Amino acid sequence: MEKSVTFMIFQFLMVSTFVEGSQGVVRYNGMLNSTINVEAISIFPFTVTVDKSSEIFFSYSALDTSNASVASVLSNVYLKAALGDDSMAEIKGNFTFHLDTLLMSENFSINVEGKLPGRVTLFISIVEQTAGGQPLTVHGSEETLGQFPFKLLIEREERGIDKAFTIVVVFLVVIANIGMGCKVDLEVVKTELKRPIAPVIGLCSQFIIMPLIAFAFAYNLDLDPGIALGFFALGCSPGGSASNAYTHFLGGSVSLSVTMTLVSTIAALGLLPMWLFTLGQLVYKDGDVTIPFQNIVFSLIGIVVPVVIGLFLQRKFPKVAELAVKIVKYVMILFIIFVLTVGIYANVYIFYLVDGEVLLSAALLPYLGFIFGGIAAVVVGQKKPNIIAIAVETGIQNTGIPIVLLQVSLSGPDKDTAIVSPVISALFTPLPLVAIIIYVQGKAYLKRKREAGKRKAGDAYIDDGHEDVAGSSDEFLQKTTPA
Ligand SMILES: *[C@@H]1O[C@H](CO)[C@@H](O)[C@H](O)[C@H]1NC(C)=O
Ligand SMILES: *[C@@H]1O[C@H](CO)[C@@H](O)[C@H](O)[C@H]1NC(C)=O
Ligand SMILES: *[C@@H]1O[C@H](CO)[C@@H](O)[C@H](O)[C@H]1NC(C)=O
Ligand SMILES: *[C@@H]1O[C@H](CO)[C@@H](O)[C@H](O)[C@H]1NC(C)=O
Repeated sequence: MEKSVTFMIFQFLMVSTFVEGSQGVVRYNGMLNSTINVEAISIFPFTVTVDKSSEIFFSYSALDTSNASVASVLSNVYLKAALGDDSMAEIKGNFTFHLDTLLMSENFSINVEGKLPGRVTLFISIVEQTAGGQPLTVHGSEETLGQFPFKLLIEREERGIDKAFTIVVVFLVVIANIGMGCKVDLEVVKTELKRPIAPVIGLCSQFIIMPLIAFAFAYNLDLDPGIALGFFALGCSPGGSASNAYTHFLGGSVSLSVTMTLVSTIAALGLLPMWLFTLGQLVYKDGDVTIPFQNIVFSLIGIVVPVVIGLFLQRKFPKVAELAVKIVKYVMILFIIFVLTVGIYANVYIFYLVDGEVLLSAALLPYLGFIFGGIAAVVVGQKKPNIIAIAVETGIQNTGIPIVLLQVSLSGPDKDTAIVSPVISALFTPLPLVAIIIYVQGKAYLKRKREAGKRKAGDAYIDDGHEDVAGSSDEFLQKTTPA
């Protein structure tokens, strides 16, 4: 796409009469009617690479009815390149270009080095200068006569470590989902589904409330298109299995939580692409390509089918399924170690891309999910354990799904920026839950102590009947695994 920018010097001449006479500035003849064209020779949007310098070619040309007057105009302005955001990329070498008064048309190039994946605008401005070649400043700011935007995409070069990381993460998400299928107690799920109000409310909160909250943020905030799409996909994702452990500690209905996680994971197969296909396109409004739906649907099938394989194993080969559950436990420990070491090392850029808006939206999404999921459950008259289960389930997303889905489906900068929100959200999701758990468990502990004291050498404390869904190492896992 060629971008042509035209600046009418005539307009400027009308307003610049106040500079006459000062510091040797040439007085312009108000009869001039000149135009400077700046055109890109390189193809735009232009892709630059992180940590590599790319040369981008432009040309300018001046037009006028009288050659002599154009020459006098050209000797008094110059072109200057600047970036919309200096944290994303850097201009190397020359960034000012003086215009040739004889040729009145020339090619020039700008070297840009990427710093972070994403998008940045390269502005080429026409700046007025004094006869001494200094920028002319009026009231302390440079006199810019026109500013022309060119869009740059910044990509990360895929290193060996990035490929390895992607492969390992895909592998682990698949293994974890097989494990989920093997572990789910189908009898519990069947019983829960016989009283369908709670699971249906959970499903509605998960796939109507959450996507709409995510859309409201993504559409209204000024986010990079890749970050916005990743954030919206997070909002459309099914519940994570960490919700089961949190629900247990908060005294909610674990069997409802397990049921909702399974149901929403399978429902995501249809509902996640449905949302991306509709509101997702509005969220990705400034993107440079269309959302690759085919890739997304196939990747999603690849992620969700392992759950079904797990269910099948459990049905037909219960011994194998039992073994798989044990193996998955250890694989998940390796996963946590891997993500905390290699993962952080390979993806440090994520933290540099986090600004106030990204942080706010990614942290608030699960919190609003807890609140609105809870309200929906209260409105339909659910009992307290179900309210807790639905609230927790709605807020906790399976962040592995948008991360894997978008990393394998997207290309260009979006491949890297799409995972920013899911990662940040995964880090912030547990905070209020952990705080509440500490409060609830602490209060229960104190109560027990008081009662034990009253009873002196009375009966041993009898637990309030919550069955322990997971062994202690499993609880640790579920708490520390990205939801
Ligand atoms: C400048 O050029 C435009 C179109 O080329 C013309 O309409 C306009 O009258 C010109 N102005 C002067 C001051 O020559
Ligand atoms: C401007 O200069 C070019 C080449 O120097 C010439 O071909 C053209 O006729 C000139 N235009 C006018 C209006 O004098
Ligand atoms: C910078 O511009 C000057 C002339 O304006 C040119 O001689 C020099 O080669 C340029 N340097 C680079 C690195 O482009
Ligand atoms: C400027 O670049 C264009 C496109 O590459 C080329 O056709 C033209 O000859 C160049 N002009 C000069 C003066 O180098």
